[in-house]
Amino acid sequence: MADVVLKNIQKQYSGNDKLTVKDFNIDIKDKEFVVLVGPSGCGKSTTLRMIAGLEDITLGELYIDGKLVNDVSPKDRDIAMVFQDYALYPHMTVYENMAFGLKLRKTPKDIIDKKVSEAAKILGLESELKKKPKHLSGGQRQRVALGRAIVRNPKVFLMDEPLSNLDAKLRVEMRTQITKLHKELQTTFIYVTHDQTEAMTMGARIVIMKDGDVMQIDTPQNAYEHPNNLFVAQFIGSPQMNIMEGKVVEENGRVIIDVCDKLKVELLPRIQEILKEEGYLDNNVYLGVRPEYISETEGSSLENEFTVIKSKVEMAEMMGFETYIHFNLGKNKLIARVNSSNTKSIDEEISLKIPAKNIHLFDISTEKVITTN
Ligand SMILES: Nc1ncnc2c1ncn2[C@@H]1O[C@H](COP(=O)(O)OP(=O)(O)OP(=O)(O)O)[C@@H](O)[C@H]1O
Ligand SMILES: [Mg+2]
Repeated sequence: MADVVLKNIQKQYSGNDKLTVKDFNIDIKDKEFVVLVGPSGCGKSTTLRMIAGLEDITLGELYIDGKLVNDVSPKDRDIAMVFQDYALYPHMTVYENMAFGLKLRKTPKDIIDKKVSEAAKILGLESELKKKPKHLSGGQRQRVALGRAIVRNPKVFLMDEPLSNLDAKLRVEMRTQITKLHKELQTTFIYVTHDQTEAMTMGARIVIMKDGDVMQIDTPQNAYEHPNNLFVAQFIGSPQMNIMEGKVVEENGRVIIDVCDKLKVELLPRIQEILKEEGYLDNNVYLGVRPEYISETEGSSLENEFTVIKSKVEMAEMMGFETYIHFNLGKNKLIARVNSSNTKSIDEEISLKIPAKNIHLFDISTEKVITTN
């Protein structure tokens, strides 16, 4: 059990003139489950490996349990790391694989026995202990890798894409298992994935990274509802947030956003004020709206603060309960998530509405949020 603090952590690999991790700051609390998420190459594994001590820290300070550990060797950091490829010893049984690290540390046999059987119980591996890895399923192998980490009672668990070799169904099952494991072990977990769904469902907090930069650290819900920037807005959520470029204009005393002369988007009064005050009038902005907030008008009378879009169905993807309607607005390709009860065919005319309160606005040059609802 320990908190993990990263202060202005940077990483520059030798021979690379760019920083792979730029100024990473986070205060991970004891027993917290934090997920690092971002596209391939953004620096997730590098950050995790620096925490593990497998990679030098170029600049900054790393504290585990209040102690500065930049120069402490991996084996003395009291952490355990689980990798994507399990790295089990094929000639050893499940029991021997789990016991291996403890044996190396000359742990007495009765204690090894006790720890391995406890871990096997937690992971549902009790009847597999005598088997060799090749006789196990992918999910079971991954559990053995977890077991090997558990028996060491580490202060911190580090996991780098531990589920990416599993098929989709097993991945979902193992997600739940790892979340349960975290509850049971009451230990700090730092988990790396490039899969936003995995991050959203597992992390108490998620760190969204891009090109070595931390774009946002937040609860999954906040990152979803209040993205700080265009990148987070589009990275979190599936299908992703619709983004259009539009011009902020004043018409009859109201500030609206004109999207390619095809749509005048209504805004909340508070947002209109902010746009005026911050000098956005007559400038372009990015406007974002999540597909689930675009719904059919179905002839219902509209209150103020709604924008109505008339368009044609380009494609309708039936997902079961809901249908993703693809439609165009000028050069923008947009998606609405609507209830499947009204089937839609291609080229059918549709009338959709966007509530002003569900609109996100981003600055064109900084891509930072201007204001959210
Ligand atoms: N040992 C190394 N020497 C030089 N550059 C490296 C080294 N390891 C990684 N890099 C570079 O650092 C960047 C970040 O790599 P990292 O493995 O941390 O990314 P990641 O976010 O884990 O990506 P992925 O999702 O593909 O695993 C990449 O551009 C990579 O090429
Ligand atoms: Mg990686």
